[in-house]
Amino acid sequence: VKRIGILTSGGDAPGMNAAIRAVTRVALKSGVEVYGIYDGYRGLVEGYIEPLTRNDVGDIIDRGGTILGSARLPEFKDPAVQEKGIMQLRKREIDALVVIGGDGSYRGALALTNQGINCIGLPGTIDNDITCTDSTIGFDTALSTVVEAVDKLRDTSSSHHRCSVVEVMGNHCGDLALWSGIACGAEIVITAQTGFEETEVLERLKEFDVVKKKRHAIVVISEKITDVDAFAKKVSLNTGFSGRATVLGHVQRGGSPTPIDRVLASRMGEKAVDLLLAGIGGQCVGIKDNQIIAVPIEEALDMPRASRKRLQDLFDRLV
Ligand code: F6P
Repeated sequence: VKRIGILTSGGDAPGMNAAIRAVTRVALKSGVEVYGIYDGYRGLVEGYIEPLTRNDVGDIIDRGGTILGSARLPEFKDPAVQEKGIMQLRKREIDALVVIGGDGSYRGALALTNQGINCIGLPGTIDNDITCTDSTIGFDTALSTVVEAVDKLRDTSSSHHRCSVVEVMGNHCGDLALWSGIACGAEIVITAQTGFEETEVLERLKEFDVVKKKRHAIVVISEKITDVDAFAKKVSLNTGFSGRATVLGHVQRGGSPTPIDRVLASRMGEKAVDLLLAGIGGQCVGIKDNQIIAVPIEEALDMPRASRKRLQDLFDRLV
């Protein structure tokens, strides 16, 4: 390997910069040149590619977002579009790639590997929805952001005998909701995995009010499940709490990465370079039982999600 490229793709996540820094520094120290590819696969196809020096990645470890920019490019599924990207790499003699993103980005990385450009995927997403890793880069930071927000909502909810319905991100993965529900002492967590029975949730809220005499109730709900404004109105109509909805939205994607995300990104970035130096591609990096591992992308995309039953049971025992 003489030159490696690096790109960030899909929704950005805090810690992506720490990963870019780690890949660049470890590669340069091993005598390999590094090229930054801007705006994800779009920049790859359009040739928006520049060399990265060690100083280019200085002063970024604490910054949220991604200095390389990110984009979603569904067209990259098309082999003709992939071919354009490959041409851009070949022109610059870039023979390997690190792709930081979610599983959609991994599919592009797999396609490129199958066409002779070794790629390694790093899990950069706040959703924690990549099955081959216990944790994705950005999840810990987004979780902290959610917890900080919900703690604040609890203060005002208690003052007003309110129920805060808080919608969190995660795409179809309930981890941000479940983890934050436990960390914030929420009364109810609703995810794709728990399912949502509106009348049952309203009944449970009445119980928190009448039987448990709670001054407030926090409902953490994953996005894409229901209209939280409409649901909060039903809370006001059907329970003793007045309901208020808060959609945390893209706030969850920003902010300085936590130390855990910075270290995770650095460890994963190092692993990506080591794999490429060993001539290995088509793999994605994860962390399992605090060990950095690599799994073939094909296998990773097919893996079933680890059960969250134990955490869900814990949540249920705590309320
Ligand atoms: O994958 C990260 C994520 O923030 C999801 O949680 C969310 O569903 C989606 O991206 C939002 O995408 P966009 O930033 O394109 O609106």
